[in-house]
Amino acid sequence: MADNAIVIGSDHAGYSLKQVLIAHLKDKGWDVVDVGTHGPDSVDYPDFGSAVARALKDGKGDRGIVVCGTGIGISIAANRHAWVRAALCHDITSARLCREHNDANVLALGARLIGEEVAKDCVDVFLGTEFGGGRHQRRVDKLGLTEST
Ligand code: RB5
Repeated sequence: MADNAIVIGSDHAGYSLKQVLIAHLKDKGWDVVDVGTHGPDSVDYPDFGSAVARALKDGKGDRGIVVCGTGIGISIAANRHAWVRAALCHDITSARLCREHNDANVLALGARLIGEEVAKDCVDVFLGTEFGGGRHQRRVDKLGLTEST
């Protein structure tokens, strides 16, 4: 499953959009690993940003999608894991450039800020765009070299 699997997670604010995106991804032929949340009850977004990060590390998928109300909290949570480069996108240009320039491996979306069609378009562009490499590779490499104090 890992070769063609997308790991997806959300909090309660992102739950409804997550379900829409899961159906969309399956329609497009992707396998989907859903790490929750599995209902609309209130939960904490760090748990699900971290669950997506851990699933990627465990090889359950190549790329991830995280959704919360704004996309901010869950992207911060995912980005606290060194192997994650999560990009919060509200438009398809950001979704394209986060792949081309940043080799983002997780797309973060804000369910309270964008509509379902924009979200689906962001997903399609994110999954359909390759990393540009070249000068961008050097910069992405440096993302792994930041100090931790
Ligand atoms: C939940 O109310 C909300 O705070 C969360 O979904 C997210 O927007 C946080 O960044």
